[in-house]
Amino acid sequence: MPAETTAPSPDARPDDSAPRVRPLGPEDHARQWRLHALSFGEDLTSPPDPGSEPEGAVRYGAVGRGEDLLGAVTLLPREHWWGGRRVGAADVTDVAVQPEARGAGVATSLLRALLEGGRERGAAVSALFPTVAGLYRRAGWEVTGTLTTVEVPTHALNRGGPAPGLATRTGGPADLPAVAELYEREARARSGMLVRPAPPTDRLPEGVDGLTLVEDGDRLVAAASWHRGRGYGREAVFTVRDVVADTPAAARTLLGVLGGWAPVARNLHLRLLRGDAVAAALPVELARVVDRKVVMHRVVDVERAMAQRGWPSAVRGSVVVALEDDLAPWNSGTWELAVSGGEGAARRTDAEPVVRLTPSGLAGLYAGSTTALGAVRTAGAEVLVEDRAAGLAALDVLACGDLVEVLDYF
Ligand SMILES: CC(C)(COP(=O)(O)OP(=O)(O)OC[C@H]1O[C@@H](n2cnc3c(N)ncnc32)[C@H](O)[C@@H]1OP(=O)(O)O)[C@@H](O)C(=O)NCCC(=O)NCCS
Repeated sequence: MPAETTAPSPDARPDDSAPRVRPLGPEDHARQWRLHALSFGEDLTSPPDPGSEPEGAVRYGAVGRGEDLLGAVTLLPREHWWGGRRVGAADVTDVAVQPEARGAGVATSLLRALLEGGRERGAAVSALFPTVAGLYRRAGWEVTGTLTTVEVPTHALNRGGPAPGLATRTGGPADLPAVAELYEREARARSGMLVRPAPPTDRLPEGVDGLTLVEDGDRLVAAASWHRGRGYGREAVFTVRDVVADTPAAARTLLGVLGGWAPVARNLHLRLLRGDAVAAALPVELARVVDRKVVMHRVVDVERAMAQRGWPSAVRGSVVVALEDDLAPWNSGTWELAVSGGEGAARRTDAEPVVRLTPSGLAGLYAGSTTALGAVRTAGAEVLVEDRAAGLAALDVLACGDLVEVLDYF
């Protein structure tokens, strides 16, 4: 656990009156939950069941004089898929500061503690869904991708029966491990998708009313879990929680079954993943975006982040960068970042840096969400050599991965 740290004092008060950041224990949970519920507009009268805690969650709080809880944050230790490999992550949720304590660096101190704690737990990267991107960008995260929900008219999906050789059936809890494998086949080659924990096999996930499956012989090739929604009038919405398919034919077959809901649920909502088999089979020209959440990423530990992810195997090269990272000082210094044969590495070096990178610039390049020029124009990266074009080109070795898209909100 990181040692207690002191938030910067806004008005040069003595240190003992400045907020202290410390890990929160079970005795603090009720206070943290109240702060969370106030901040995010949730029902203050129904605290969550203690058993519904995300697994392994680590909480940090900023406490003032008299142990008042001024702010809190939760670290979710888990893994993401990046280019076919699992990468350790310290995801961020429940960032909240008491209204009277805002604007004095409390959230930033909490993020610093979370980065230390994440590093101690082996994290290489971190993801979060911001309500205010500026706070996290200053702290080294960068907007890297989206979680997009679209609405399609359900009748537009009803395109006849199963494709040749495919069969549809109703699934149950016993099918969930095969559905999880289907998700993993899609997610593992992408950037930033969650490595999901093993599903339960005794019940469907909360909020899921049904599971529709498509099989090719005894192999599962497409699946959708869904929530029926209320009513059957014009406004009725059928929500697909998760939909994955191995091939466009399997996706068309699955969407055909979902299209059968058209008479009683005219609108269908689903989370769209660019370039997957479902998107290839969907009448995307009719899809209307109804919700779009941006996701941000940060490099927690540059050595692990470079080494743990998979890189495009055709990319080969290296670049020497100077990195200054106030919140995660173990990343500061001059690094040679190299990619070759699908592997990456970060090594400290005495060589002259070609580019100076900020943590948010590094995050955008690592996640493939910005170009070298974009990192200069928007994230404070600076070319340090005379040949500017060559300096920018050298950074392309990083900005070469798949774009980030995710399906899980937290
Ligand atoms: C957002 C929130 C956590 C910020 O906490 P805080 O302790 O005031 O943040 P900090 O003082 O550490 O601010 C750090 C930087 O972020 C910026 N920032 C903070 N809140 C901001 C806001 N609402 N809009 C724009 N920028 C903001 C600050 O300008 C500051 O930069 P500066 O030091 O260069 O001025 C707090 O306002 C809050 O609890 N809001 C309600 C809940 C919420 O939105 N949580 C975030 C969930 S993702």
